[in-house]
Amino acid sequence: MELDEVIRGRYSVRNYSDRKIEYEVMAQVIEAGMLAPTAKNSQRQRIYVVCSDEKIAKLRAACRCAYNAPAVLCFTAENSEVYYNPFEETFNSGHQDCSIVATHMMLKAYELGLGTCWVNHYSRARVRELLDIPESEEIVLLMPIGYPAEDSVPAPKHSESKKAEEIVFFK
Ligand SMILES: Cc1cc2nc3c(=O)[nH]c(=O)nc-3n(C[C@H](O)[C@H](O)[C@H](O)COP(=O)(O)O)c2cc1C
Repeated sequence: MELDEVIRGRYSVRNYSDRKIEYEVMAQVIEAGMLAPTAKNSQRQRIYVVCSDEKIAKLRAACRCAYNAPAVLCFTAENSEVYYNPFEETFNSGHQDCSIVATHMMLKAYELGLGTCWVNHYSRARVRELLDIPESEEIVLLMPIGYPAEDSVPAPKHSESKKAEEIVFFK
């Protein structure tokens, strides 16, 4: 599949089939994340693959945006390892590292026939407790992942793209 087809075809999937993700397929998605750039290549992101029936049930109860996905990825940044910008002490790379890793994985997932959704709508405290995430890590996003249901379609918002002239400025 061409990259252009991946970029144009991907959409946020909020309805999944029951089909479990095969280990070999998940391994390819993970590998795409491992190849992503990070600040100083320090790779301080941590990726929790939540796929046990027990944890998925609890996560769904805690976060309605886990939807009915058979697995949810939880991306965190290990605070002790993030790159701090010397010009601004509070500005570190944790969110950016996680975001580019998650984006690589999201696009690879689409290429492999999987759907994903970037999710911010959850209580970080609840997710931390549920997944036993160490306090030294900052939770950045959740990403339900799975094969889309047969009747899965993009939400209307998917095609509400602004015009480039509104948000791109050549200087
Ligand atoms: C930072 C971020 C946070 C988001 N949070 C949620 C969320 O909590 N729940 C959800 O269903 N979708 C969430 N989305 C998905 C967006 O709503 C979606 O990407 C956007 O409407 C464009 O639709 P598309 O992904 O189908 O192209 C989020 C996306 C991003 C990038």
